[in-house]
Amino acid sequence: MLLLGIESSCDETSAAVVRMEENKREILSNIVASQIEIHALYGGVVPEIAGRAHIEAISKITYRALDEAGVTLSDVDAIGVTASPGLIGALLVGVNFAKSLAFANNIPLIPVNHVKGHAAAAYFASNELQPPYLALVVSGGHTSFYNVRSYTDFEEIGSTRDDAAGEAFDKVGRVLGLPYPGGHEFDSLASKGKAGKVKLPSPAIPGDNFDFSFSGVKTASINYIHNLEQKGETVDRESFAADFTACVCSAIEKKAELAIKQTGCSAFVCAGGVSANSHLREALKKLCSKHNIPLYLPSLSLCGDNAAMIAAQAYYEFLDGNTADTHLNASPV
Ligand code: KG4
Ligand code: ZN
Repeated sequence: MLLLGIESSCDETSAAVVRMEENKREILSNIVASQIEIHALYGGVVPEIAGRAHIEAISKITYRALDEAGVTLSDVDAIGVTASPGLIGALLVGVNFAKSLAFANNIPLIPVNHVKGHAAAAYFASNELQPPYLALVVSGGHTSFYNVRSYTDFEEIGSTRDDAAGEAFDKVGRVLGLPYPGGHEFDSLASKGKAGKVKLPSPAIPGDNFDFSFSGVKTASINYIHNLEQKGETVDRESFAADFTACVCSAIEKKAELAIKQTGCSAFVCAGGVSANSHLREALKKLCSKHNIPLYLPSLSLCGDNAAMIAAQAYYEFLDGNTADTHLNASPV
């Protein structure tokens, strides 16, 4: 089955063409137009600007994705679009564009949940991966564990109670003077630094749960940096990045281990922008090998927002009959 995916929930406009069969998953094209340069000026995503930039890009990006895949709309069997969660003005651009394409060309339309889409990026890592599995989606907007009971049935078993992990990387990165978004740069700084200088509060909520709170480590980090600056001292960015990264990774590892033990899962998926973090990937590889379960991580290009993951999830939603008509609306939550 040939699917066109469309993603516009935050600051990336993306369109992709994928071929999905029972035992084969293949990306024919996956075009991602990032708005990072526009938003970097403001140190974060400006929703109104994001919506306008999506409008300018979406048509071009979609036809580029079809061209690159060597197909036309008449070859497409279904169109999947991110309908929730995300910035409402941004989501509406993708949803209305996909609705028009589907209606004008008489193609089935499939609304996709962005978070399920992130987990679906892991299907391209292996044709073997299939539910049930335990998933951790860790991005700029989410940090949640899911018991994935079937391709479309996700039970959230734990989550952040405030900020997402990616948000903490970005906000602390901004205070450290890193370009927005800071996650990627943090990763390479941390590889050059040695952890052990600064003690930061753990984002793992104490007790028998799979929850996090990243606001404490974020505030403690910002206070630490400001304190040093007020004393006229400079922050050793590399060692600080190593400490911050170690603190975030060990909290995730701790909760992941608890979730692996308590759910008795037979496979683990970690996806979302922060799953590109090299230190987290290493920690999770060790953890899964200790518990003797396979770990599925999306390739680096599929960790962040992209439409191939949306098209992949759309395939399974389609098989479950989850299609929509022209009444489809976007939902921010
Ligand atoms: O999944 P994504 O593209 O968008 C959301 O759905 O939120 O995730 C973006 C987040 C940003 O916070 C970014 O800083 C973070 O992923 N990120 C990373 C790395 N690469 C991207 N965080 C830590 N280490 C990385 N290597
Ligand atoms: Zn995302």
